[in-house]
Amino acid sequence: MPSYLSMDKSSLREEYKRLSEVYAEYKAKGLSLNMARGKPGSEQVSLSNDMLDIVTSKTDFKTDDNPDVRNYGGLDGIIEAKRLFAEILDVSPENIFVGGNSSLNMMFDTIGCLMENGAGGEPWNKQGKIKFLCPVPGYDRHFGVTEYYGIEMINIPMDKNGPDMDMVEELVQNDPSVKGIWCIPKYSNPQGITYSDETVRRFAALKPAAKDFRIMWDNAYVIHDISDTPDKLLNIFDELEKNGNEDMVFEFASTSKITFPGAGIAAVAASKNNLELLKKRYTFQTIGYDKINMLRHTMYFKNLDGVLEHMKKHKNILKPKFDLVISMLESELSEYGIIDWIKPNGGYFVSVNVFKGTAKRVVQLCKEAGVVLTGAGATYPYGNDPDDSNIRVAPTYPPLDELKIAMEIFCLSTKMAAVEKLM
Ligand SMILES: Cc1ncc(COP(=O)(O)O)c(C=O)c1O
Repeated sequence: MPSYLSMDKSSLREEYKRLSEVYAEYKAKGLSLNMARGKPGSEQVSLSNDMLDIVTSKTDFKTDDNPDVRNYGGLDGIIEAKRLFAEILDVSPENIFVGGNSSLNMMFDTIGCLMENGAGGEPWNKQGKIKFLCPVPGYDRHFGVTEYYGIEMINIPMDKNGPDMDMVEELVQNDPSVKGIWCIPKYSNPQGITYSDETVRRFAALKPAAKDFRIMWDNAYVIHDISDTPDKLLNIFDELEKNGNEDMVFEFASTSKITFPGAGIAAVAASKNNLELLKKRYTFQTIGYDKINMLRHTMYFKNLDGVLEHMKKHKNILKPKFDLVISMLESELSEYGIIDWIKPNGGYFVSVNVFKGTAKRVVQLCKEAGVVLTGAGATYPYGNDPDDSNIRVAPTYPPLDELKIAMEIFCLSTKMAAVEKLM
């Protein structure tokens, strides 16, 4: 089959008729499948079941820095949990604040803290219009948080090395109303891109026009490899130190996709100054987070090696799913010249750019045939993908047999939408 782009109208019409017949057959099956949710499958969450009763038979609830985890006290978490995150993020335990069950919650609070208290200067919400840079495509919840606080968002294109750093430098270093940027430096959501060493170095060496500029370094997929040749990310805090820029970054992580999403533990890594800033807010917000859950996690894993062993089990479940998606994109779609995608070495998504102007239509066709995808546009600020092209495919949740059917329908819908457009 030649590329659709070189087909004449009558061949396209013929092709459309053929595709529509196959589509009708799928539709008649009354399927109900889901490739929208970046959630671990049930087999994955079951990997951590043994952790659930690890503290029930315990009689001693002391930790190295806390007399009794069953009681109040310890705003920034138990030392064992700090040590664990410190190992995962390769920073010192003194630079860790362990919070509750969600890193997104900590990001929301961090922005809230900067809005209301500022970072050494005027509170952000007293400075008139302020802006955030948003590498695209990106994580819809980041954009949601920014929009919630009324911060203007500016799209920054991503390439295989990370965000367009020329554009980042230009805006950050010349516009004092630019207060921050969202970054998912490893296995980015949705593209699975890991920032190159040069990108990390350029971030660390920024000289912002705004003294209260902050980088939200969301390292949600820091150890979430699905390949035998995983990506490596340079440690931004090492680079920040070389530039005297330690206060510029808040780094986030959680065990949501290690143990239980919504019932894991989350942390922020930051400089002493930034942790002080956060603690001023957290002091009023809570007396302390769930230390029993922290203990459960640290008793279960013991150290980074324990976590990495566990991540291998996730990888064994996820790799066949990602392999299936990639091989179907290759075999079903690559010859038509209508899409591109990036093969990730980790993370939770495959980002597909379908034929320009057809992403919404692909999502609609899939939905009508019983396959739910993340809404088109969700990967852009304000839900607005200017090319109407990016679709985030989430292969982790459905079992392999369901994923295969869902992908068949996705590929079919992608072809139909492109042919419709070209006709
Ligand atoms: C990039 C990114 N950050 C954060 C989160 C949410 O993390 P948590 O469960 O720790 O709030 C997700 C979940 O999909 C994500 O993709």
